[in-house]
Amino acid sequence: MKVELAIIGGTGFYSPEILKNIDEVAVKTEYGEVQMTVGSYKDVYIAFLARHGGQHHLPPHRINYRANIAALKEVGVTRILASTAVGSLRKDLSPGSLVIVDQFIDLTRNRQQTFYDGEHAGGVVHTDFSDPYCPQLRNCLKNILEQKKDVTFIDKGTYICTEGPRYETPAEIKAFALWGADVVGMTNVPEVTLAREAGLCYATLSLVTNFAAGISPHVLTHREVVEVMAEKITLIREIFMETLISVPRYRDCRCSIKEDFTLGQQEGS
Ligand code: HPA
Repeated sequence: MKVELAIIGGTGFYSPEILKNIDEVAVKTEYGEVQMTVGSYKDVYIAFLARHGGQHHLPPHRINYRANIAALKEVGVTRILASTAVGSLRKDLSPGSLVIVDQFIDLTRNRQQTFYDGEHAGGVVHTDFSDPYCPQLRNCLKNILEQKKDVTFIDKGTYICTEGPRYETPAEIKAFALWGADVVGMTNVPEVTLAREAGLCYATLSLVTNFAAGISPHVLTHREVVEVMAEKITLIREIFMETLISVPRYRDCRCSIKEDFTLGQQEGS
């Protein structure tokens, strides 16, 4: 089986539902085994993977990001759309809004960040992140969002990724806003960076589920996040499917280009 397009579902997005001809697949990788669903939408095959597991049993810091990306690559995936739930750092970006993220700031601490750890993939590899999210996929998302009525979205935004699983303090949120972050979440890194290391196109659509700590008039709860996600899940599923089937076959981005500089080769013979 070969499937080129994939969805990674975040909080509140645990099943693909509108896919037909569904197959449950277990993919073995050197990082662990991954369950995914493969099915078709308008004759296009799409793989679906629930980041937190089907029952949301994996917290952000325990997700096996390397296995997930390696498994998608293993079945032939070249392009991934991922959903992320986020808190908003901006008063003008309220719950229910969508963000086509174009930059990230990484504050994670205890995660396996790379395939190039010397144990699995070798060599010293420093990957370029000038354009962290695939511009072609982001543009396809934007085209679909522009066709939707009553959808509030921004086509750029900086996602700051915290280690979690706790929410942030108001002081942290104030600092993050000064750094230029627009939204905060706990799962986009290292998913996005591993996808690039693997040469895959990757974009995330973030749903604002709450104002961040200190901006929100009340304390933060996971229930609020899940409730807002539940209100928008049908729309997000639709946006993802429509975006994926609209993507041109030709990849006109640099996501699959690897740096070819190898220290050993340069210094050696
Ligand atoms: N902080 C971190 N992660 C989140 C938030 C938040 O406010 N909302 C949804 N995911």
